[in-house]
Amino acid sequence: MAASNDSVADGTKSTDAEQQAAANKADEPGGSRRKFLARATLAMGGLLGVATAVPLVGYLFYPVGRKIVRSSDEPIDVIAANELPDDGTPKLVAVNADSVRDAWSVSAAPLGAVWLRRVEGKVEALSSTCPHLGCAIGYDPGSKQYKCPCHRSAFGLDGEKLSGPSKRGMDPLVAKVGADGRIRVTFKKYRPDVSGREEV
Ligand code: FES
Repeated sequence: MAASNDSVADGTKSTDAEQQAAANKADEPGGSRRKFLARATLAMGGLLGVATAVPLVGYLFYPVGRKIVRSSDEPIDVIAANELPDDGTPKLVAVNADSVRDAWSVSAAPLGAVWLRRVEGKVEALSSTCPHLGCAIGYDPGSKQYKCPCHRSAFGLDGEKLSGPSKRGMDPLVAKVGADGRIRVTFKKYRPDVSGREEV
């Protein structure tokens, strides 16, 4: 009987020992390192998932949230006044917004172009966008006229319509020379192929 009791007692001791060994194994340095590596792997996976998802969501919803620039509220610096010919010959100048922010970056944005010329000590600006259907208007020094190559609308130096299908003259823009000698233009776009000027 005594031997049997010892056997039961030995069995209990054996079970307790196994449980203690398992607990010790989990607490030993190698076990902690495994736990740490598992957690670090999960964290890295989560970060990579977020890094991948943010551009993907931006792509799916493009161009939602993107700022589409068509005109400028503030006058835009385009050129130094002394770069304009003194004899009143027009000069074509690009108009770029200072900066445009979209989902990814901040950058300069082209708005259009403007014909500038000196008139009696002031600077006159005319949009180079044809008011007929929006082609780019050129300047013919021979006739001293602005001409659109698309449907042959012609305009005088002051922008008045001379001939062609355009329903109005070229669109005037506000241009001012600052104290620093720079010309700044307030750029607008107007609805094409109508006689009045409706800003768009
Ligand atoms: S777009 Fe200029 S004449 Fe038609």
